[in-house]
Amino acid sequence: MAEDLQIVTGNKTEQYEALIPQIKGLLEGENDLVANLANTVAALKEQFGWLWVGFYLVKNDELVLGPFQGPVACTRIKKGRGVCGTSWERAETLIVPDVEKFPGHIACSSLSKSEIVVPVIKSNAVVAVLDVDSDAYDQFDLMDKHYLEKIVDLIQF
Ligand code: SME
Repeated sequence: MAEDLQIVTGNKTEQYEALIPQIKGLLEGENDLVANLANTVAALKEQFGWLWVGFYLVKNDELVLGPFQGPVACTRIKKGRGVCGTSWERAETLIVPDVEKFPGHIACSSLSKSEIVVPVIKSNAVVAVLDVDSDAYDQFDLMDKHYLEKIVDLIQF
């Protein structure tokens, strides 16, 4: 079965709008969480070419590295630590235009310059976060927040 992603050029909205139905297609009929997280990060990485795209899953009161695309990364993050742990603690999306200016930022890759972290909320609890890093400053805005929140919502945890 051909599973090639159709890569779209154009502005960010056009890219997300073309990507979302394809992610829905990849998720359809599959209930394995790892498979679904893996294809979601692969699709995002392929479309946008970001430095790092991945999930951290809440396990025993820690975030543990899940499916990702990009350079190797730290495996465990405590609540309230770094951008990921802060997003988890606050249960809100954090947009960081310059990671060096975020107090406590955890530098998994020295190439990362800006970052967005989106919490995945199920039954009023954060069960995971989606972390996206770019090697350029100021790459994420409210448009990314809007669409990435929509995308994590598609995944059944
Ligand atoms: N920078 C993140 C850590 C995860 S890596 O970027 C993959 C943070 O501060 O939480």
